[in-house]
Amino acid sequence: MTAHVPAELPPFGPGRHLLSVQQFDRESLHRLFDLADLVRPIAQRKSICTVLDGAVLGSLFFEPSTRTRLSFESAFLRLGGEVTTTTGFTFSSMAKGESIADTSRVVSGYSDALVVRHPDEGSVAEFAAASVVPVINAGDGAGEHPSQALLDFYTLRSELERRDKAVDGCTIAIVGDLKYGRTVHSLMKLLSLAEGVTFRMFSPPSLELPPEIAQYARARGHRVFDTDSVPDALTGADVVYATRVQRERMTEEVLANANVSGNLVNRQILAEAGASEIIIMHPLPRDSRLDSFDLSSDVDQLPGLSIFRQTDNGVLIRMAIFLTALGCSPDAVKATTKQRPWDATLRWP
Ligand code: NCD
Repeated sequence: MTAHVPAELPPFGPGRHLLSVQQFDRESLHRLFDLADLVRPIAQRKSICTVLDGAVLGSLFFEPSTRTRLSFESAFLRLGGEVTTTTGFTFSSMAKGESIADTSRVVSGYSDALVVRHPDEGSVAEFAAASVVPVINAGDGAGEHPSQALLDFYTLRSELERRDKAVDGCTIAIVGDLKYGRTVHSLMKLLSLAEGVTFRMFSPPSLELPPEIAQYARARGHRVFDTDSVPDALTGADVVYATRVQRERMTEEVLANANVSGNLVNRQILAEAGASEIIIMHPLPRDSRLDSFDLSSDVDQLPGLSIFRQTDNGVLIRMAIFLTALGCSPDAVKATTKQRPWDATLRWP
């Protein structure tokens, strides 16, 4: 393992928590991606797998989520496991003052793995410290969101390959709320495992990238440029990664300073920058309200739109995460996979 992993966070593997993308190196990243490729037919319901027969996932989401929670749960179910779930504080014993440590120890006794999302940075690591089973970080405040970064890297790699390019040497424009958007923090750290990436950043005032994230990428040989506008950020870029303004994480004052309105990225902005063919990524959800300063839906017919390939790939990546944490080899997956006996209308390409 490389110096990317701090002493207190061991490489991700069997029986291990997944708290940060820093638990991967290039080799383990590609191993995970190979597992994701292996389970694609299972995710697409072409075959059925029971490798996690008898396993129970505890899914604890203390912050709003649709795709992350459902895709983690769907991933576990597709591998033959079962899922128990709780959402929000109101219906959990935390509303009665229970500590993270107590909740975690109790629920981990009911489960074989936990997936946790929580509004406070560092809180999922607290869950992990008290858990007797692997804990997967599904987002801790403005901190990290490792499974999202993994599916973003995986999707970016395949989108670039379709254009005879690679993540090594690519140029990525990352635009929007770079301060509170945890997906950006995790993605930049994970992309730092590639070679010679150029990052072109644009954010409104008060929503700038934390300097330590830029420093992290630069220290690993990548170039990070701040730009003054979205068209400027798009110069020479292979991909634009747009993010939502994380209004729920900021004060009214910060929001007023950011002074955001209109669209962050739309057809016209892309056309002006000569980037109508660019790969378009976004972790979703897209804020579709008027003046939300997000990715406009008027880009939806453009050829580079990859946002729904990201969400589809999220299931494969999360299946690979569970297989790794629960120590299931590719051979174990193959031995427990069969053709589906029932018919379904397959929606996947
Ligand atoms: C992101 C998150 O929760 O950090 N959503 C997601 O998990 N795909 C991004 C966001 O909420 O803007």
